[in-house]
Amino acid sequence: MSKTLIRGGTVVTAVDTYKADVAIVDGRIAAIFGDGAGPNMTFDTTIDATGKYVMPGGIDAHTHLDMPFGGTTSSDDFETGTLAAAHGGTTSIIDFAIQAKGDPLRKGLDTWHAKAEGQAAIDYAFHMIMTDVNDGTIEEMGQLVKEGITSFKMFMAYPGVLMVDDGQIFRGMQRAGEIGALICMHAENGIPLDVLIGQAIAKGNTAPKYHSITRPQIAEAEGTHRAICLAEMAGAPVYMVHLSAERALKQVVEARDRGLPTYAETCPQYLFLSDENLDEPGFEGAKYVCTPPLRPKHMQEDLWRGLRTHDLQVVSTDHCPFCMKGQKELGKDSFAKIPNGMPGVETRLYLLWDGGVRQGRISMNRFVEITSTAPAKLFGLYPKKGTIAIGADADLLVWDGEKKHVLSDKTLHMRVDYSPYEGREVVGAPTHVLSHGRVVVENGKYLGKKGDGRFVQRGTFAL
Ligand code: URP
Ligand code: ZN
Ligand code: ZN
Repeated sequence: MSKTLIRGGTVVTAVDTYKADVAIVDGRIAAIFGDGAGPNMTFDTTIDATGKYVMPGGIDAHTHLDMPFGGTTSSDDFETGTLAAAHGGTTSIIDFAIQAKGDPLRKGLDTWHAKAEGQAAIDYAFHMIMTDVNDGTIEEMGQLVKEGITSFKMFMAYPGVLMVDDGQIFRGMQRAGEIGALICMHAENGIPLDVLIGQAIAKGNTAPKYHSITRPQIAEAEGTHRAICLAEMAGAPVYMVHLSAERALKQVVEARDRGLPTYAETCPQYLFLSDENLDEPGFEGAKYVCTPPLRPKHMQEDLWRGLRTHDLQVVSTDHCPFCMKGQKELGKDSFAKIPNGMPGVETRLYLLWDGGVRQGRISMNRFVEITSTAPAKLFGLYPKKGTIAIGADADLLVWDGEKKHVLSDKTLHMRVDYSPYEGREVVGAPTHVLSHGRVVVENGKYLGKKGDGRFVQRGTFAL
């Protein structure tokens, strides 16, 4: 039996902040002792958390590791991506397994299990991307739910690649409603966007900045509205992934005000970067090509407001890194060939603590909620993960709220040759990251080993 005590810290959950010692036995939280009430028990390991916060580990509900996309493959695999996540205080990820068109879901899922097994530093789960909704895959959804794959993503964008039509989306939603699954929507109307992209290229407008110009927010607002209507017709909940724009948010607010089970996440890139980055000199703008695109700066405040008012419930990363060399440069002659995606799995908590909590935009409790508790609740991981409670997995952070550091590709651990936040000074970092009670990162040093992370079967949608 292994026993660890985290002593003297301030516990922060989504609802409470209090001084306590946290005792861990065999990977789970066994007891929480009030200030000075310490247990009459000996521990193998004691971690001094005096002056620090003890929080549930981050849960990143949106990553793309080892994903074939845009003629190449995202540069982090399950080994490197989860190690980087652990360094940044994330102790679970939910990655997207992909069904290739014409294949059963099972084949895509098996492929992702094979990519992850024995590789991960932290726990992982899967959503399933459906690119072909038919009688067979509708049936299969039920079996996947039994195996703990309880959410399915569909795309309104990327015609001919990932996009499914409204009939398929509607069928998928109906089925999700029946079996307790959650549909995740990429809500951008891809068909007119492809027309705009073709027209821009025909005019010789090929620089990275045209990526955002050819994907106006109205396409996301329309997709969001349509997804909400389809979900309402199907009687199913819906979760909008990577919401980036003011008008898309308005659709979510309107739906939630009507009491619909509509949920949405945004990502750090939409809170901290803008379409101005896409216009950086030379080909530098390619670093910031992701979909939906970065938006005008003023929309950042709309998203922060959405987080404060709970219209946005989650901040995940959409971590989908591609190196500038050999990958982003595929689009040197045309922005449409730049692989879409940005690195972020390691920097999410740093940015949200520094730019959210320290700037007074969100409380510490809301920080825990949007980075851990809410994704755990929405995606069937709660209360095993996402909180500090007796019996929960001891996936924990000892967080130094005052630690200054500079974000740089030289010191971050993601396998990518740039950082979108290069040179940005942030305050706040974990001194200890625990996965199942074991310290996997201590003061920036990785102490875990590949394969420590386990596949997690998630529960059905329960909100
Ligand atoms: O640019 C992005 N977001 N790449 C990953 C694929 C997606 O749509 O989530
Ligand atoms: Zn997407
Ligand atoms: Zn994504």
